[in-house]
Parts: sequence; structure tokens; C-alpha cells
Amino acid sequence: MREWQQEILRCPLDRAELEAEDTALRCVVCQRRFPLRDGIPSFVSPELAEQHEEEEWQRKQREMRARDAQARRYDRLIALRLLSPIESRLTLRALRGEAGRFTLLAEVGCGTGRMLQHLAVLADYVVGVDFSLESLRRCRVRMQRAGFWERTLLVHADACFLPLASEALDAVASCQLVEHLPSDRLRQQMVSELARVLKTGGRYAISGYHWSWWVSRVGDKQGMHRGGIPYYRFTRQEFHELLSRHLPVQSLRSVAGYVWLASGVKEA
Ligand SMILES: C[S@@+](CC[C@H](N)C(=O)[O-])C[C@H]1O[C@@H](n2cnc3c(N)ncnc32)[C@H](O)[C@@H]1O
Ligand SMILES: [Zn+2]
Repeated sequence: MREWQQEILRCPLDRAELEAEDTALRCVVCQRRFPLRDGIPSFVSPELAEQHEEEEWQRKQREMRARDAQARRYDRLIALRLLSPIESRLTLRALRGEAGRFTLLAEVGCGTGRMLQHLAVLADYVVGVDFSLESLRRCRVRMQRAGFWERTLLVHADACFLPLASEALDAVASCQLVEHLPSDRLRQQMVSELARVLKTGGRYAISGYHWSWWVSRVGDKQGMHRGGIPYYRFTRQEFHELLSRHLPVQSLRSVAGYVWLASGVKEA
């Protein structure tokens, strides 16, 4: 593990610093050990169950298994392949804003790296967080092929309990994750975690399903995707309210009526 990587990692339960051992990171306060799995630090520990309602934890476990099982198929999904060129261009523009280049940028819920591979051009160092280890393995291959691996850290963790130091990041993105959290409480918690790890003055871009007119013709407001992946589609007001409790929303637009894309700067 490189120095810059260890510097930003923290215990997800008490946010204390971590010490490197041969095959794990150990919290200097609670002494919990977080294993490196294929070199990827893994913070999805069973103790997290105690921080959830039984139903929330069951649903998360189910989604983790589904994401692992579907990781290979994800990059072939036709809707995402059509959306990716415009979505990545708009997300980069929203995140960069007036800023030049970032030092440290993270995408929370990076999956197989569909967006992270584009976001990586904006920063010197990038962090990708996801709770699907199988998706992270695919993301690693993608980042290696793109020549970004030397300056990338992938982290196996729950977005609601980020193992990252507070105010560590210059920019944070989360693309199409928040709609999959199984309760409003957890959606709030995730956005508050994004706000916590972002520096004051840092930039964010967050996207999530849009409950638009055309989507309402073909789908439901909330439900379950194949394999047990929960989803919730937001009205403009719902998405704005969710984010603005934690971060100022300076821009909010729809991308093709499919996702909302919000961005802004963290204020003191
Ligand atoms: C729709 S995919 C988006 C992946 C990527 N951001 C993209 O745009 O292609 C949602 C991702 O969020 C991850 N995810 C869902 N809930 C999570 C949680 N609580 N913590 C961490 N990752 C989560 C899933 O494993 C999946 O990779
Ligand atoms: Zn600890």
C-alpha cells in the first residue's frame, strides 16, 4: 500500500487511523483487522450489520451478491452503453466546474469503472469505492488498461460507512448509486458521508434515477431490479431535498430524463 493511500484510509466504525500489516490494515483504536483481498482493502465487515435495521442489512447483502454475480454483464447493458458518452461528458463538466485539476478525487459506487475511467483524467490520484468486490476486480483491469492504475486506489466498502478521513478529498462523485440504497435513512447517511469526506471548497457531482414522464410510462417509482437490487426514482424536489440537507445544490439537471445530475461546492 502506498503512502498516499494509507494516509486517507480510516476505520469505518470509529474513523481512527490504520496500521499496515502484511495482509491487512489494523485500526489503532478498536484493533479490528481489515483484510486486503487481492490487494484491495476490504471494509465490508459483519459488524456493519449492527448499524442497520435487519431489513436494510438483508437488502444490502442481497444487492452485494447480485452485483458480484452481474459484474460481467453490467458493462454490456444497452441503456448504459447508449447513455455513457453524454453522461460522462456532463458529469465531468459538472464536477470540474471552474476548478482546474484536482489532487484527490473519489467516486463512491464506482462499480466496474464505467465512469471512473473518465473521471480519472481530472485528478492526480483517484479512489474508487464499491461494496461489490467482483465489480472492483473488473474496475482494476479497466484502470490498468487505461494506464491509471499507478495512481488509483480501489476500496471495498459500504458507501454509508466510508473508510476515508474527513475532509480528505478535493472532489467526490457518485454516479447512479444513491437510488439503490434501501431506505431514506441510508440515502441521507450516504450523502452525509460524501459531504464529510469532501474538503471545504471541494466539488461534488451526484447522479440518481429521475422519475420523469417517459420513465413513468415504462417503469415504477420504486421496486426491485433483477437479482434483488432495490431502486427508488426521484422527483426533482425529492432529489434536491436529499442533497441540500448536506451539500449546497448549485446545479441540478436531468440527463435524458433517465438520471438527475446535481453538482456544487462544499461550503464552510
Ligand atoms: C448502477 S451501479 C453504478 C456503477 C458506476 N458508478 C457507473 O456509473 O457505472 C451502482 C453501484 O453502486 C454499488 N453500491 C450499491 N450500494 C452500495 C453501497 N451501500 N456501498 C457501496 N457500493 C454500493 C453497486 O455495487 C454498484 O456497483
Ligand atoms: Zn476502529
